[in-house]
Amino acid sequence: MPRDALTAATAWPQRSALRPPLPTLRPDTARTIFYHDAGSAGCNGNVTDLWNSASMSTSAASAPPTFDFDDPPEDPMAWCAAWFTAADGIGMPNPNAMCLSTVDPDGRPSARIVLRKSFGPEGLVFFTNRESRKGRALAAHPFAVASFHWDVLDRQLIIEGPVDLVDDAASDTYFASRPRASQIGAWASRQSEPCSNRAELDGAFRAAETRFGDGPVPRPPHWGGYRILLRSITFWQGHIFRLHDRIRYERADDAAPWRATRLFP
Ligand SMILES: Cc1cc2nc3c(=O)[nH]c(=O)nc-3n(C[C@H](O)[C@H](O)[C@H](O)COP(=O)(O)O)c2cc1C
Repeated sequence: MPRDALTAATAWPQRSALRPPLPTLRPDTARTIFYHDAGSAGCNGNVTDLWNSASMSTSAASAPPTFDFDDPPEDPMAWCAAWFTAADGIGMPNPNAMCLSTVDPDGRPSARIVLRKSFGPEGLVFFTNRESRKGRALAAHPFAVASFHWDVLDRQLIIEGPVDLVDDAASDTYFASRPRASQIGAWASRQSEPCSNRAELDGAFRAAETRFGDGPVPRPPHWGGYRILLRSITFWQGHIFRLHDRIRYERADDAAPWRATRLFP
């Protein structure tokens, strides 16, 4: 195990020590709309609370939202945002890492970890190489599942829905915010294609470095964002004896109301 990983692993408290108290929803925060931006410079990003920046009262804004699985709010956005905020705030590595599941052109599932870059009522955004295996899968079947697992919080959050492309302007903006070496890496990596050895990868990186010299590195045309539209959101909170709480929210389209269903664990 690498030294850093070992240090991180041994430094972690037991998750039971960090497990949050059983949640209950405050009616005044249930209607709160958050926009969560995981940022571009790594895992711990910014959280912008649109309601707070508009007209929300100070007392409601400063109270941490809590949620009740037996009395779920009509709209799950505030709940989602609160869970992302809790995960980001606890100091764990890559709290925005999610397992992204897609269906390959031949109908078989495939999965991998990517990073959530933003979340809001308009969807969950991640960035990748659109010619990769996942990119080809999404071209054939534009539907994805994103699963987050925060072990120290004993929580799982699953977001499902059809997938849209993030437009070029937004993809350009995000790409421009990345470190230069990552920008060059995006040109160097033929993601998901066979690579004969490390030298081939390093050579591709050096070739891209030479190509762009000291100039700006544009976004490769095959690299960009995807947005998972919010059609299903499942909250899972672990409890003792495997008596976990689960709620699945579903809706038919962006304009439809959410329907919440409590599920056996
Ligand atoms: C913590 C973590 C974060 C990652 N984030 C991304 C990401 O945001 N975008 C991406 O394309 N790959 C990311 N990767 C690499 C992917 O897991 C995967 O190897 C790559 O996207 C190719 O997947 P595919 O061949 O299934 O398309 C990440 C891997 C890890 C472990």
